[in-house]
Amino acid sequence: MDFPIFHLDFMGDRLLIAIIAVLHVLINHGLAVGFIPLVTWIEYLGFKKGGKNAIVNNEWDQLAHRLMTVAFIITTTIGAMTGVGIWFASSLVNPAYIGSLIRVFYGAWFVEWTVFVTEVVLILLYYLSWKRSLASIEAKAKHIKLGAALSIFSWITMSIIVSILGFMMDTGSWVENKTFIAGFTNPIYLPQLAFRTPLAALMAGAIGLFLTKLFTKNGSSFQQDSSKKIALWMLLMLPFTLAGALAYYFKIPELMIGNLPVAVGTMDFQSWYDLLVKFIIGALTTVLLIAGTVYFKPKLKIPTIVYILPVIGMLGFAGIFERIREFIRKPYVIGNYMYSNTLRKEDYPLFKRDGVLAHATYSPVKEVTEENKLVAGEQVFMISCSRCHTTRGINSVVDKFENMYSLKEGEKLNGDLMKNYIKHIENARYFMPPFPGNEAELSALVEYIKHIQDDGTPIDHQATSMR
Ligand code: HEC
Repeated sequence: MDFPIFHLDFMGDRLLIAIIAVLHVLINHGLAVGFIPLVTWIEYLGFKKGGKNAIVNNEWDQLAHRLMTVAFIITTTIGAMTGVGIWFASSLVNPAYIGSLIRVFYGAWFVEWTVFVTEVVLILLYYLSWKRSLASIEAKAKHIKLGAALSIFSWITMSIIVSILGFMMDTGSWVENKTFIAGFTNPIYLPQLAFRTPLAALMAGAIGLFLTKLFTKNGSSFQQDSSKKIALWMLLMLPFTLAGALAYYFKIPELMIGNLPVAVGTMDFQSWYDLLVKFIIGALTTVLLIAGTVYFKPKLKIPTIVYILPVIGMLGFAGIFERIREFIRKPYVIGNYMYSNTLRKEDYPLFKRDGVLAHATYSPVKEVTEENKLVAGEQVFMISCSRCHTTRGINSVVDKFENMYSLKEGEKLNGDLMKNYIKHIENARYFMPPFPGNEAELSALVEYIKHIQDDGTPIDHQATSMR
């Protein structure tokens, strides 16, 4: 609690991070990690088809160049900004957690930076030297090697981050021995990498197939040939994606058992779990059908709109997968170590003894009194609930209580019931961390929530007017 608390009360902090992060993952996987090897491969095919008198086959080379133009523009703008944006947004919302990750992954973070800078330099070189690569056979061969190097570096960038993502879900033996190696080689790391790698390639294939349909002349033999190659790419990646998804999928229940001791709560997760299964089946079947048709029946006329289906399927699939990954680590932001409310598990006894306010550097009040009850309650809300709930916005705490007690319009919340609930909140719903504060802070929190219900004063206005 050494940091000020940033809070977006209308949409919630979770949504802010989710929008930036999901956008980033879709671009990173679909247009960088999986896409660049695909473009390099198409460029290579054009090189091979060049024949005796030409350096390349122009149609193939132009297609590769056009695909790369799309990737270049999007990855170097929205892709790069959202990538950095994730760290800005999550440092704002949960600085303690980013602080912990930096401490554990200190060296890896530095390596990540050098790899990322290399990736950016390579992408600039690869794209901007395309014209010059057409000057000679040697230049083209070199250029293709550059594409291969870029593919490898984009993959390494992702593979370091995936270790950190795995660590957030399950810290493995790190909780006991606190070594970097234990953190880096956490149990979720390899299954997740085994899933993300072919997933990225498959997403890229879906996007590539769609773009190729747009970039080539309808019905031309080149359209058939190039689409057939991309369909082959997709068909080859499909079994690996499925195998990776299963490896990862079977890690999830294991993790749930470790992290989520309360059986009732799992019902809530169940619906997402079912959705994931439906999405795995639905998205992969769509990809199989369309890629299979393009490959085996290249002459069949398929309307452009149909090519969007695998793109939507793959993006939706990846999006849902990210949502589940985020959800199942709750109530922790770092498995078994730090709760999503930014408080460390091992500090709880201290908070129970002294109260959380006493340890909250930026709280204007350090102890609950009769006069400061609402200000104190607001602070307790900010510390223990605001990372996931707003007062009146999305996932509003007042709405949650009103719905849970099935209150009718105008009915008031019952403070005693709420106190009892919050005291054992982690048993009621496994995804919420235990309440960290003492009795007086619990009363103040309940007073504050009731106050919000009464007159709905938004939190920002309160914070400035009451201090
Ligand atoms: C780690 C995130 C997180 C924290 C911290 C958190 N909650 Fe929740 N809470 C949730 C989620 C997620 C839901 C379910 C939202 C939904 O309906 O999908 C929820 C639901 C609830 C519900 C409704 C439960 C039900 O069974 O209908 C109440 C009441 C509630 N929260 C109160 C609180 C209070 C009070 C605090 C602070 C002491 C708090 N929560 C802290 C994530 C959190």
